[in-house]
Amino acid sequence: MDTRTRAVLLLALTAVVGSRTALAQAPAALTPALIAQGDSIFHSKGNCYACHGANAQGAVGPNLTDAEWIHSDGSYDAIVKQVTTGVPQNESKSGIMMPPKGGSSITDDEVKAVAAYVYSLSHKTGS
Ligand code: HEC
Repeated sequence: MDTRTRAVLLLALTAVVGSRTALAQAPAALTPALIAQGDSIFHSKGNCYACHGANAQGAVGPNLTDAEWIHSDGSYDAIVKQVTTGVPQNESKSGIMMPPKGGSSITDDEVKAVAAYVYSLSHKTGS
């Protein structure tokens, strides 16, 4: 095996190990089906699109697709909690509050789905 082949193999191995780690960190419950359900809730009865924009890149509310989290560490559990409680006025950085569940009447399971969608936007695996 020449040096070049060895280097290529090493790179491939690193990529495999790297993506394994990323997958292991993503909560196992975040299935593509759950994320798809969350996508639909985000753009309909969850009201999220109204403040965060249809592409979730921010409007009245902040961008949800970047790695910057104002109110939490951006983990899945933290996003679930955040969506459930919203952002009270006194904790809002912009002075604009987010009502609990965005002011919608989605169920706790729907909150988990929409949080899975939000999580997936900023934690893309394989890229
Ligand atoms: C009435 C407007 C409004 C609606 C509707 C709304 N949000 Fe928000 N959201 C905000 C504002 C405003 C903030 C943060 C304000 C600040 O601190 O500057 C926020 C913050 C957040 C954060 C925290 C972001 C961070 O960087 O830490 C998440 C996550 C979030 N919203 C998700 C959602 C989801 C999911 C929905 C739908 C269920 C939703 N929001 C509906 C206005 C809204």
